[in-house]
Amino acid sequence: ACGETGFGRMSEPEDILQTITHFFKPKILQGLTALVTSGPTYEAIDPVRFIGNRSSGRQGHAIAQSLSDFGADVTLVTGPVKIPDPQGVNVIHVTTALQMADICANKLPVDIAVCASAVADWRVQEPSKQKFKKHKDLHPFSDLSMVENPDILSMISKHKDKRPKIVVGFAAETDNLVDNAKKKLEAKGCDMILANDVSHNQVFDKSHNHIHCVMRSHGSKTILSENWDLDTKQEHAQKLVSKIYNEFINTDNKDDVRYDNAAE
Ligand code: CTP
Repeated sequence: ACGETGFGRMSEPEDILQTITHFFKPKILQGLTALVTSGPTYEAIDPVRFIGNRSSGRQGHAIAQSLSDFGADVTLVTGPVKIPDPQGVNVIHVTTALQMADICANKLPVDIAVCASAVADWRVQEPSKQKFKKHKDLHPFSDLSMVENPDILSMISKHKDKRPKIVVGFAAETDNLVDNAKKKLEAKGCDMILANDVSHNQVFDKSHNHIHCVMRSHGSKTILSENWDLDTKQEHAQKLVSKIYNEFINTDNKDDVRYDNAAE
């Protein structure tokens, strides 16, 4: 081997680590299907400009990887991101919220859905085919007519006949984190919300974050809230997977899995 390409070249160390990690994880979600959304969506204004946001896709991608490592058959629908696709996952790349909503609707039914994407709430009704030019007095965006995008998390949670067994959403909040997360849990009809404080740019494109987990326990009306300490997005992803398993899949409590043991 020349050392640059071909069979004799050693795989990248990260790929080797990922393959070994995947191999040794207990396959507690074997036989289950999962759908994950990740990254931002971009909504065109004209051929060069768009409405987007700071989401890097790191948390959603880590969740897709973790669900797959623990044995689920995972489809990841992601907006434009700069990070690599997770291994062993069926990845579908999209740009807009409408495309993401369309693919997600077509992927149902699944057993588990996790909506981690920072979907743009609005889109420009009719993006311009020509680039907007600068005018002296008026900026061209004042005339843009906006329409609301479909709420993918609500669509999945409230689906008449194809609602997954467990639906997880996120909440990006600058104020009243836990209260707003509880309101979102009710309004969107999901089982669990992972809430992030996004007020000081401490989440987007960072490797670590704090999470407040708000959930309705299986078969119960009470909403529980717990604090997940500062940790990597990969660790939070594993914690979420073990929580999904313990609370919603393994409901008769056979062999509970602790996320830190499962990670080893
Ligand atoms: N979400 C979605 N589709 C949308 C908007 C949001 O699926 N059109 C999902 C996100 O993936 C996340 C949850 O809804 O799981 C909450 O997203 P967030 O941006 O925190 O809240 P919004 O619903 O956009 O409400 P607001 O911006 O008023 O906080």
